[in-house]
Amino acid sequence: MYRFEEAAYRKRMRWYEEARFGMFIHFGLYAIPARGEWVRSEEETEEREYLRYFSEFQPDRLDMREWARLAKRAGMCYAVITAKHHDGFCLYDSALTEFKSTKTPCGRDFVREFTEAMREEGIRVGLYYSLLDWHHPDYPHYGDKFHPLRHCAGCGNEGRDFNAYLEYLHGQVRELCSNYGRLDLLWFDFSYEEMRGDRWKAAELMDMVRTLQPEVIVNNRLEVSGEGYGSLQAGKPSAYHGDFVTPEQMIPPEGIRDIHGRGIPWEACITMNRSWGYTEQDRSYKPAGMLIRKLAECVSKGGNLILNVGPDARGRIPEEARQRLLRIGDWMRENAESIYGCGDAGYPKPEYGRYTRKGNTLYYHILEDTAGPLPLPGVKRDTVESIRWLYSGAELPISRSWVHSDYPDIVFADTGTDGLLPDPDDTVIAVRLRDTGSADAAPEEQGGEDDHVSQ
Ligand code: GLC
Repeated sequence: MYRFEEAAYRKRMRWYEEARFGMFIHFGLYAIPARGEWVRSEEETEEREYLRYFSEFQPDRLDMREWARLAKRAGMCYAVITAKHHDGFCLYDSALTEFKSTKTPCGRDFVREFTEAMREEGIRVGLYYSLLDWHHPDYPHYGDKFHPLRHCAGCGNEGRDFNAYLEYLHGQVRELCSNYGRLDLLWFDFSYEEMRGDRWKAAELMDMVRTLQPEVIVNNRLEVSGEGYGSLQAGKPSAYHGDFVTPEQMIPPEGIRDIHGRGIPWEACITMNRSWGYTEQDRSYKPAGMLIRKLAECVSKGGNLILNVGPDARGRIPEEARQRLLRIGDWMRENAESIYGCGDAGYPKPEYGRYTRKGNTLYYHILEDTAGPLPLPGVKRDTVESIRWLYSGAELPISRSWVHSDYPDIVFADTGTDGLLPDPDDTVIAVRLRDTGSADAAPEEQGGEDDHVSQ
């Protein structure tokens, strides 16, 4: 039976904490009604009504290699696709159901295409798998909190065998862990009310997962949802503990720490517009500059950002999303060093932006024009080895101007531009610190290699 082990945990998390930036892909039958992936639940749609989409599912413009190239171009290091969402429709050739993409007019196994295309681009692969299943006859219907037929008294749960559903769930996870090569990440979704942990037979499930895919990392939603942290944060990792916490559509105010105050891995999952699955009416896309700043914010707080795309029914990533990914990629081409492998700087947040840090280098993400020289809060003058514009490598001298003579304890950088930023979205400067031992290292680096959890 799987048991948490600190060293093995740190080892499997290494790529993830280096990667920092991933792509979430919500795609399925729900792209046809184009009112989001919860359309069946929200509209309480009868099964036979929803099956109309099954018989017309033909994403003729879907080129998974194009999606993979776009993720790569954006600087994303991993990607997660909805192998099965709450509607129960499978994007892969499951032997346990006919409700799958290979039985629709397109006849394609999109999980296979996804894993192959992403790997070809050197992008790590993750599979999202819904614990809920509104198609399966043995999943609770009447009275369930979310099922499309939750208000249908005639759809009672007598004769529904939940254990048969769990056999199906575990069987499908076994298929995904056995038939698609090495998986880097499993993204379960989600636990609610009493439907959590043991109710999913999660210990047995994770024992199988960690046997078949010993290096895979798993989110915390066998235990919780976007609400709640999970047992790793509580310092008592269960047999089905999440390896990372999954705040949704928000960024935690100060990152996420365990009960001992140590940072733990987390990932904010955020949509570019307001929807996960393709929504025709939802054109409220966040500006690319904002998405760049949110990525920097996540990393500055020791977390990852997984940014969602919801391809349309023909398999195309919406143009608004594509344009944003290209712009983010342009920014990442100049500034990825301030994102990959970086984390919480352990210094006070600068007034005009955010710090990320890797080793002895502080990356100052300047998000606001400053009037005059740029203050570097927390940095001591005798620890500064160099200051450079990251995009050009050009030097920024420490300012000796009289204008800040009243603040002798604060180091100011002479940006030479009167505060006008080369990149108004996020201009990064690299402040390389002398290695003066633990005395001046950031606070969290002054301790030892503490365990994440008390043994
Ligand atoms: C929420 C949504 C679900 C989506 C997930 C992504 O759980 O209900 O549809 O897949 O967030 O984080």
